Amino acid sequence: MTDASSTPAAPVTIHRGDYRSPEWLLPDIALDFALGLEQTHVTAALSVERNGEGPAPLLLRGDGIEPLALRVDGETWNDWRMEGSDLLVDLGDRRAATVEIETRIDPAANSQLMGLYASGGMLCTQCEAEGFRRITFHPDRPDVLSRYKVRMEGDNAAFPILLSNGNCVAAGEGEDGRHWALWEDPWPKPSYLFALVAGDLVVNRDHFTTLSGRRVELGIWVRKGDEDRTHHAMTALKNSMKWDEEVYGREYDLDLFNIVAVSDFNMGAMENKGLNIFNTRYILADPDTATDMDYDGVEGVVAHEYFHNWSGNRVTCRDWFQLSLKEGFTVYRDQSFSAAMGSAAVKRIEDVRLLRAAQFPEDAGPLAHPIRPDSYQEISNFYTATIYNKGAEIIRMMATLLGPEKFRRATDLYFDRHDGEAATCEDFVRAMEEGGGIDLSQFRRWYEQAGTPRLRISLVEEAGEWSLDIAQSVPATPGQPNKQPMMIPLRLAAFAMDAGAEAMADTLVILAEAQQRVPLGRFATRPALSINRGFSAPVIVEYDRAPGELAWLATSDDDPFARYEALQQLMLDTLVAAVAGKAGDRAPVIDAVALTLDGAEADPAFVAEAVNLPSEAFIGDQMVTVDPDAIRRERLALQGELGRALDGAWRALLAKPAPPATDLSPDAKGHRRLRGVALAYLAARGAEDAPRIAFDIFSAADGMTERQAALAVLAHGDSDERAHALDIFYQRYRDNPLVLDKWFQVQAWAQRPDTAAAVADLAGHADFTLGNPNRVRALYGAFASNQAAFHQADGAGYRLLADLVIALDPKNPQTAARMVPPLGRWKRFDEARQALMKAELVRILAQPGLSRDVTEQASKSLAG
Ligand code: TRP
Ligand code: ZN
Repeated sequence: MTDASSTPAAPVTIHRGDYRSPEWLLPDIALDFALGLEQTHVTAALSVERNGEGPAPLLLRGDGIEPLALRVDGETWNDWRMEGSDLLVDLGDRRAATVEIETRIDPAANSQLMGLYASGGMLCTQCEAEGFRRITFHPDRPDVLSRYKVRMEGDNAAFPILLSNGNCVAAGEGEDGRHWALWEDPWPKPSYLFALVAGDLVVNRDHFTTLSGRRVELGIWVRKGDEDRTHHAMTALKNSMKWDEEVYGREYDLDLFNIVAVSDFNMGAMENKGLNIFNTRYILADPDTATDMDYDGVEGVVAHEYFHNWSGNRVTCRDWFQLSLKEGFTVYRDQSFSAAMGSAAVKRIEDVRLLRAAQFPEDAGPLAHPIRPDSYQEISNFYTATIYNKGAEIIRMMATLLGPEKFRRATDLYFDRHDGEAATCEDFVRAMEEGGGIDLSQFRRWYEQAGTPRLRISLVEEAGEWSLDIAQSVPATPGQPNKQPMMIPLRLAAFAMDAGAEAMADTLVILAEAQQRVPLGRFATRPALSINRGFSAPVIVEYDRAPGELAWLATSDDDPFARYEALQQLMLDTLVAAVAGKAGDRAPVIDAVALTLDGAEADPAFVAEAVNLPSEAFIGDQMVTVDPDAIRRERLALQGELGRALDGAWRALLAKPAPPATDLSPDAKGHRRLRGVALAYLAARGAEDAPRIAFDIFSAADGMTERQAALAVLAHGDSDERAHALDIFYQRYRDNPLVLDKWFQVQAWAQRPDTAAAVADLAGHADFTLGNPNRVRALYGAFASNQAAFHQADGAGYRLLADLVIALDPKNPQTAARMVPPLGRWKRFDEARQALMKAELVRILAQPGLSRDVTEQASKSLAG
């Protein structure tokens, strides 16, 4: 058995409409692990009960495993056969039985990081979505829930710590320096929530007392030496537990909650019941090694996984088409939590920026799918920004439509009604309807239709009465040529620019028609319009506003998100015009940025977001054909102009001492963020002393936020300070993998003509490895997001990424497949680039033995 052969390439499409309830249930399961890094022996005892009428055999999924022994009710059993990698056990007319199966696995050879694998000398599991079948034969579908008893035994020296879900009910010493532990999880759960960890770990212990007075032991387990970097995660965990009690009335339900941090991990983290397993990057943080953004990432992901205990574990998914039921809702919950812990306005801006950067392009490309897909080939490919982030927006819209009280009533109803069940998105919407007393029939289209809705808005006046004409449309997406109008909650306000007074207070308008007229009121002069305030709906608004109106809103709108939007729109309009060769007047942008900077002391985090120019990719999204070189040139030019015009302001921000790195208050974080933006403006303006200032900040920095920001600015340039700083950084952090990732990342982000060549060199660096997904993402993920570098006209960037996909696929198809989508954006580029991108997709697809994961992503991307 090799790893590659365990993922056959034959593309089988699974359809949502084909769902059938399971023929067999599995109320109890006992697992016995004889642990070893290279050889782990697994004995699974499945207590099965017939659910259907018929004589259907027991279908147990497998992936890369063989049954070494099979017993039914204690007797050796021969009535079984393999069908592909699955095991079919014929149980005759039995209605219940205990099926015992033995398998053997090699965790050290498991480079896919799915199932049981070795990472840095320890053993751990990742079972979502379909990794459990790589451990033992099992139905491995989320609507089959079992109570688990897990016994594991292993070498005491190699694996002093033995963890699984639930509670440890017994432990003891074995022979030959081995020991064992028995864990029991009282809560029935699907196999994707199973977890096991064995290794030499140290723990940061704490506890939490729940609302009803129960004491919960908390533990964060890491490798020796990392324990001092777990405090932020622990604080985040306790805050999450409290917040879920206060805001959703959800209490934790076990006496123990453990988190383990692992260096080699395909995603961010995993919500296994009572034993969350995390990518180290979302646990470990201290001021010297983690940026403020890293800190926020830890807080958000700890919360996300904790919140899954209710939205995902207590109420789980019936099938994987319902993935957004748990992910969209849980992202909405973690967003709300982070908003409550810091600045709500800034958090909303960050969430929308991410949605536009990751989800809008997905929704506009060949991989577009509804938040509840209709079909898939490989479910791992559907852990997308659409399922997660658009999914969260859909929950947020329902929360907006219901208002806080009814939304709470509706979530209570949902949790109470479906506790212990495997539910559907439809169940959730029905609870919203009943708890909120509203009709969501039309709203359900958000679950069915892919594509970002567009609103074309014009302001009309008739005899002093002003109104909006709104036309909505949803673009065609693969498999969905025709779309129906959506129910869209749109928050609006109108202002009289002269008086500075509000003309129409904040109003929630509910759109439902393809064409609609929305009356605003009677105003003396044309009002300034604030549209989609707070980003009340995940739509694209097309509404032409003069620079003067945008500039006015940027400083005077009472909704901070709308102020941010107005300034970004003003910048965007200026940049798009410049790319199209229209010089235009830069004064409104410069004045609006200058006025916004006046608020820097009061709200530095908001100001930093607002005055930052839109990304190159987002500028490209506004164009019919993306011109990466012109975008780079014009964005740098505007950045330089703003740098020059406001030189004094940027320097003033940098002249004041930075807040101490240990100060993690929103205000301190905001100041550091704004200093980073100021430094970037100074450098873009080509100030002669900019490299020296950046190097001084880099050298004097008492924490990673300032250090990384300065390094990133230097990395764009060509100064002696650049090489010097990169070298110092490397020497200082070469033994810290998470920080070394940043060293790769800043070089892949560099806005330089030689970045593609530099990335090719870095791929050959002694510290680069395909074995660690974080390292792969740090280099290639960052590179693919560097628009002008990745889209270098000669196609070198495309070749680099395709080479990576081809090299990584045999080892880790899941992570390889996540690198394919950037090549799928070919339709958005000129013909020469289109041809080069498609040629790389063709080359990928021609590889023999290509995984199902990459086959699906590359073939859909090529089809367009
Ligand atoms: N359920 C996890 C989360 O969002 C996601 C996840 C972790 C995952 N590891 C995975 C998904 C591996 C697919 C494969 O919190
Ligand atoms: Zn999740």
